[in-house]
Amino acid sequence: MAQYSSVAVLGTQWGDEGKGKLVDFLAEQADVVVRFAGGNNAGHTVVVGDDTYKLHLLPSGVLHPGKLCLLGNGVVVDPAALLLEIRGLEQRGGSAAGLRISDRAHLVMPWHQILDKAQEQAAGSNRIGTTGKGIGPSYVDKHARTGLRAGDLLEPEILIERIRQILPRVNAVLTGVYRLSPLDEQVIMERFIEYGQALRPYICDTISLLRDCLAAGQRVLFEGAQATFLDIDYGTYPYVTSSHPTAGGICTGAGVGPHHVGHITGVVKAYTTRVGEGPFPTELFDATGELIREGGQEYGTTTGRARRCGWLDLAMVRYSAWLNSLDSIALTRLDVLDKLPKIRVCTGYLLHGRPISHYPSSLHELSQIEPVYREMPGWQSSTGDCRSWEQLPVAARDYVEMIAQTVGVPVTMVSVGPRREQTIVRQSCFAEN
Ligand code: GDP
Ligand code: IMO
Ligand code: MG
Repeated sequence: MAQYSSVAVLGTQWGDEGKGKLVDFLAEQADVVVRFAGGNNAGHTVVVGDDTYKLHLLPSGVLHPGKLCLLGNGVVVDPAALLLEIRGLEQRGGSAAGLRISDRAHLVMPWHQILDKAQEQAAGSNRIGTTGKGIGPSYVDKHARTGLRAGDLLEPEILIERIRQILPRVNAVLTGVYRLSPLDEQVIMERFIEYGQALRPYICDTISLLRDCLAAGQRVLFEGAQATFLDIDYGTYPYVTSSHPTAGGICTGAGVGPHHVGHITGVVKAYTTRVGEGPFPTELFDATGELIREGGQEYGTTTGRARRCGWLDLAMVRYSAWLNSLDSIALTRLDVLDKLPKIRVCTGYLLHGRPISHYPSSLHELSQIEPVYREMPGWQSSTGDCRSWEQLPVAARDYVEMIAQTVGVPVTMVSVGPRREQTIVRQSCFAEN
């Protein structure tokens, strides 16, 4: 297995696989941690000792002093939310001194959040179930070439001019389409000039910064947010987010070519969850689903919503392995299955009674597929205190190996709890010194 000086940690399912925990764990060996997609729709929980941190925009390396933490150009940044997060961290004795924001990163403006919520409400039963953070509308403006970027915060005159150009159209939509109050130009201008002053020390050209770090042989960790099945192209469209959380998004969202994306690890939760609407072939509506939700405390980090729970779907993980060129799998939350007498795993799908080898793009087909299950015995003992592969119960090891074999990718890390020490490393991702 190849080991590199850069490692990417990507979600393989519908998010909340435990990427934050793993990035924090691996950050100890890294110099730089880079977010490349999404915004504060992400909720990455990191437990350090007795403290729990819920990170949304700050890269999960921020809890290790001295690491450079980049928000790449592919990220959308809500300045108000970011400042709140920075202040919150500082109040707890932490520091965001290593934070750098790409001058090319687009901003989430106040109207984006309002539009996100208004669109969801108007969609009624067809809603996506977004986080309501304005992420979709911000990416819409980016691609429509009507967005504002972090770099604009450094040039107040241009900022004011751009807001003056954009706001009449926004207000026409708010009042005309959604019957909402218009936004006050003056208030927004003043607020964004203040944000610019507060964020000025952090905004820079992260592309040359990252280039220089890589050239100097520093170790880089690319932190995925969201996940493969929320990808705008590969996910269960339209029940997706508006960015590319997949491996390709690293190049376009961080400003590196593919040869600089070294080892790619996919985070796989030992079962499946989804928050928001959309297809979920292995969803459980019974007591087992409830046991997983309660045992795993499956409630959203960003919105507090109950997560939908189901069996592990290896048809999904196989698709993720291909799309992301996974070198390894980090399996998380194995401990949540500790009490189950039997565990089912979906190994493939049948469509109209016949096996299929692709992941359907059509929602209609997805509603018709039948998961093919394999049943495995549970281990029915606690794994939270296991610190090595050998200490894991045999049935748990068999479960892990079955995943590796079915997907065709080695499982090199196994997580048995939220804490740093509850991580079993079978093989290191970063190259040895
Ligand atoms: P992310 O969005 O992928 O970073 O994941 P979230 O932070 O939204 O959700 C994962 C949750 O599981 C967090 O509360 C983590 O602290 C927790 N967690 C991570 N790994 C494990 C594990 O192996 N076992 C248990 N029980 N919890 C874990
Ligand atoms: P992390 O990084 C889980 C989901 C939302 C909704 C859809 C679109 O913590 O894994 P959006 O607000 O992005 O327009 O919502 O995507 N979603 C997530 N689900 N984890 C996430 O991030 C998510 N980010 C967005 O629930 O279904
Ligand atoms: Mg999350």
